[in-house]
Amino acid sequence: MSDEKIHIAPTSSEYDVIVSGNGLDCVGQYLAPLLPSRNVHIISDSNVATLYLERLRSSLAMQSIQSTCTVFPAGEASKNLATLSDILEDMAVSEVTRSSTAIALGGGVTGDMAGLAAALYMRGIPYVQIPTTLLAMVDSSVGGKCAVDLAAGKNLAGAFLQPLFVFADIATLRTLPDEVFADGCAEVIKHAVLADPELFGILAERPINKNDDDLYLMTVIATNIGIKRRFVEADEREQGQRKLLNLGHSIGHAVEAASGYTMGHGHAVAIGLTAIARASERLGWAEEGIAERIEAVVAAHGLPTRSPYPAEDLIGFARLDKKADGTGITLAIPESVGSPVLKHVSMYGFERIIELGIGA
Ligand SMILES: NC(=O)c1ccc[n+]([C@@H]2O[C@H](COP(=O)([O-])OP(=O)(O)OC[C@H]3O[C@@H](n4cnc5c(N)ncnc54)[C@H](O)[C@@H]3O)[C@@H](O)[C@H]2O)c1
Ligand SMILES: [Zn+2]
Repeated sequence: MSDEKIHIAPTSSEYDVIVSGNGLDCVGQYLAPLLPSRNVHIISDSNVATLYLERLRSSLAMQSIQSTCTVFPAGEASKNLATLSDILEDMAVSEVTRSSTAIALGGGVTGDMAGLAAALYMRGIPYVQIPTTLLAMVDSSVGGKCAVDLAAGKNLAGAFLQPLFVFADIATLRTLPDEVFADGCAEVIKHAVLADPELFGILAERPINKNDDDLYLMTVIATNIGIKRRFVEADEREQGQRKLLNLGHSIGHAVEAASGYTMGHGHAVAIGLTAIARASERLGWAEEGIAERIEAVVAAHGLPTRSPYPAEDLIGFARLDKKADGTGITLAIPESVGSPVLKHVSMYGFERIIELGIGA
């Protein structure tokens, strides 16, 4: 089956995203003409490295691309300055030069850290994303946001750096734990609610799973990348319309924090998405029945629709949200499927919205 190519052209640079049916063994052929030199430094986590690192390195070696690597312990708990420092030190010891390229092989945690390492190392080297989770394929590997967590909160130290190239081999999704695949489904559903009523209808009829046929998975993933592309191209640095991509995230972040970051990002976003739909409908900001429709699609993908934490706990965490400014917070509201709007609400207003969305 032929690969899908999506060209992304934000203001600062442009690059291709390839969605492939089983292409990890050929990725070297794609990369060879793009790299400034035949030296790369691969960054991966312990789970993904066990599964895919050697295949990637052989594919690179076939094109005479030399690779060095840093492998860090898998999990969000590693997405911090200490791991970033280890990666940078490793790059220096491995004699990575200004003309080398960093490669992120893994999920969103790996991509976010590798991107930031590439932004910092020698004041910036190119990097390539090889996403291996659904979330990373449809969301985090595209758009150039990269960050690590601080003790005070998630993604608080970061940068914008667009990748040189993104290569998604959907065959890697088959080894994902079901829960991790479901995390990515939350972002897929979010994209459909934001921008694609047809995709929303398809997902309602035929929820995706990691063992779906290649054609179906590739089509859904490529469609999602196309949706993300539109937001990133319109507003690379999230000054306006890109904020719509935060649909479900303001409440979702509070849920994630309330769980002590033990709940997967997508699971928290699923709760946030259904909560904001419920609250919007109750306030008369969204069309009747939208909350029920979104809940059905979320549940069909094995994701939660109700918060295990009470509204008062979430309000406590929402007050700490970094996206809040002195006057309140900008929320994405799903007026109907395919037409979201941004609304600025006071913190008091946001707290009432959490109560409306989380309450029975
Ligand atoms: N930069 C952005 O725009 C952006 C957008 C959304 C999310 N994010 C970030 O992404 C992160 C979440 O990403 P994630 O859900 O991919 O988490 P992750 O990278 O931690 O991956 C989840 C788990 O799956 C394992 N895994 C990855 N690929 C695998 C495979 N093919 N087979 C088997 N196991 C595999 C990993 O080892 C890990 O244990 C969060 O830190 C979030 O803040 C960033
Ligand atoms: Zn997200």
